[in-house]
Amino acid sequence: MKTKIADLEFEPLIKAEAIDERIKTIGKQICSDYKHCVPVFIGVLNGSFLFIADLIKQIDIPCEITFTKLASYYGGTKSTLKIRDDIDFAMDIKGREVLIIEDIVDTGNTAHYLIEKLQVKEPASIKLCSLLLKPASLLKKIDELKYVGFEIESGFVVGYGLDYKEMGRNLKDIYKRVK
Ligand code: IMP
Ligand code: MG
Repeated sequence: MKTKIADLEFEPLIKAEAIDERIKTIGKQICSDYKHCVPVFIGVLNGSFLFIADLIKQIDIPCEITFTKLASYYGGTKSTLKIRDDIDFAMDIKGREVLIIEDIVDTGNTAHYLIEKLQVKEPASIKLCSLLLKPASLLKKIDELKYVGFEIESGFVVGYGLDYKEMGRNLKDIYKRVK
């Protein structure tokens, strides 16, 4: 069913049940890959808040979680390519195995910025887990991108944490823009 958010129209792309299923699979994979250590998950707010919450419930190995807040869309439908650093975290990640949790990798600019910033803090490793990836929009290769929920086309999407003009984050399914 179509839905309208502000001036744009959207239709369903990924149903909540498919998201749940995929998160369970990724969760199992992460537990197996990180069972030798106590990983630090760094959630990138705002868009990934639901994904982080659902993913972390699938993690049954000891782990720590912290958050950072970055912005590059500022409520619009295209990346401005300028990243604003809104909230930083104080946790010492030197020597730690770090897994960044993102809602979506679009141009790859935000991921690239955050990875460079974290590298200075000398973690043992940095990997990235993103619910969504728009492969055709990537401007930079991101070698750290290890877990991807769904690869999607380059159009604009909302729901399950992702917003248009700060709205639509509460939708259970993910929707793509049709108009
Ligand atoms: P990138 O820096 O271009 O890779 O974009 C990363 C950030 O832009 C994501 O973490 C999202 O917060 C936001 N973003 C990218 N594509 C979309 C979209 O289709 N809908 C909503 N937000 C998006
Ligand atoms: Mg994000």
